[in-house]
Amino acid sequence: MTSTADAVLQVADLRVEFRTDEGRVQAVRGVSYQLHRGEVLGIVGESGSGKSVMSLAVLGLLPGSARVSGSVRFASRSGVTELLGASDSVLCGVRGQGISMVFQDPMTSLNPVYTVGYQIAEAIRAHQDVRANAARQQAVELLAAVSIPNPTERVDSYPHELSGGMRQRVVIAIAMANRPEVIIADEPTTALDVTVQAQILQALRTARAQTGAAMLLITHDLGVIAGQADRVLVMYAGRVVEAGTVEEIFYTPRMPYTLGLLGSQPRLDVRMLRLHPIRGGPPSAITMPPGCPFAPRCPLAAPVCVAEEPPLAPTGSTGGLSACHFSDQLEGLAPGDLFRPLARDTAP
Ligand SMILES: Nc1ncnc2c1ncn2[C@@H]1O[C@H](COP(=O)(O)OP(=O)(O)OP(=O)(O)O)[C@@H](O)[C@H]1O
Ligand SMILES: [Mg+2]
Repeated sequence: MTSTADAVLQVADLRVEFRTDEGRVQAVRGVSYQLHRGEVLGIVGESGSGKSVMSLAVLGLLPGSARVSGSVRFASRSGVTELLGASDSVLCGVRGQGISMVFQDPMTSLNPVYTVGYQIAEAIRAHQDVRANAARQQAVELLAAVSIPNPTERVDSYPHELSGGMRQRVVIAIAMANRPEVIIADEPTTALDVTVQAQILQALRTARAQTGAAMLLITHDLGVIAGQADRVLVMYAGRVVEAGTVEEIFYTPRMPYTLGLLGSQPRLDVRMLRLHPIRGGPPSAITMPPGCPFAPRCPLAAPVCVAEEPPLAPTGSTGGLSACHFSDQLEGLAPGDLFRPLARDTAP
């Protein structure tokens, strides 16, 4: 197990609440984790589980309606900074240079009226004292690094002249431009088709190899996690409900929700394997029920699950954690042992 000293990011008891007309939305409910230098930490969970809000909170990018508490310590090469509550000037120094982000839709990051070369060069010059010509040359090299064909010509293209996959590679080039220590990639491949996804994942690997950055890889796709991450956090209803190495999460999950996610994932390696999806949907973040938020969907649910929310606790000697009163009973179970198969006439 790697020690705290290796952590580039230490998040402790992070909580985010939004005040809305409908009530208080408890989007993140006490999340703690460490991101170690050079590692890829996958964050997986259904839509609305708090993945994006949690990562936006790290960089102070949430709207004013958000109430954020806890601690986010960034241990950069030049010292440790508490990011929660930090001033705009501190956060601006960290964003892009210390920690950079890749979002799902590249057009939210790119400005349509400037060439991609100009935007990469501006990102470089925001943090480095280099002349325009030198920054442009670096932009060409970065475009080549993320496998954009003809980078010397493409550097003068506008975002709309590029395909979606190329645009996302430009965003990755910007994310790696200032050699960040952490890259947060929030659903970086979700808007793209499968072959382009593979190219984007390769570009992210290049970005990590060239910068040495650690990465938070957020996705709802366990397939993306399997090939990329070292460790995984599984999120449900604003909390981490299971944490472990990729092997632990895939082969010995100790939270029924994780098992359900695995059963919901189509597999190409096992022909005709039926899906065993989780029925129902997650609870409303406004009217969160007492007890385990997964209990209404959980085949193992018992009265204790409705009465008491289980803490995230060690599942054994391996360092894995799970939040389930019955994690011991999951040993050796497959998704089909807990969840009903999808009926054949509704199977894809
Ligand atoms: N600005 C906001 N105001 C009020 N509620 C918000 C706001 N932003 C997010 N939420 C709520 O916070 C919860 C967590 O949202 P978040 O975007 O983090 O989910 P997610 O796990 O990233 O989902 P997805 O997979 O769809 O991206 C949701 O219930 C969402 O509706
Ligand atoms: Mg999201």
